[in-house]
Amino acid sequence: MANITFSSPAMKKDLTVYAVAGDRRTLLSVAQEHQVPIHYECENGECGSCVVEVLVLGSGKPKGVHLTEKEKTVLVLNGKLSKEDIEHMELNDIAPKWRLACQYMLLDEEVLVKF
Ligand code: FES
Repeated sequence: MANITFSSPAMKKDLTVYAVAGDRRTLLSVAQEHQVPIHYECENGECGSCVVEVLVLGSGKPKGVHLTEKEKTVLVLNGKLSKEDIEHMELNDIAPKWRLACQYMLLDEEVLVKF
């Protein structure tokens, strides 16, 4: 079960939702289902408009993720990650705090999503 709390100045208050992890849904699709106003354009990992900050909550170790080359490229181009950050992240099997909501596949963890 993914436990996702959305937080943004664009919302009146934080919203926590639950979703089934591993059902191949993106964070953006869950946000859309709950009328969370994350900005997006391409929905294909190319424009960078859906960038969000993801903080893993709880006591569990954050799960490592493999970003697609497309997501890495967009996050580097918009200044959220450096190539050194990506190397460090991949070497240590850790997730970056900046993600593209349209590329973020839900994991079984509790996260705070800021945008
Ligand atoms: S909507 Fe374009 S990168 Fe996510």
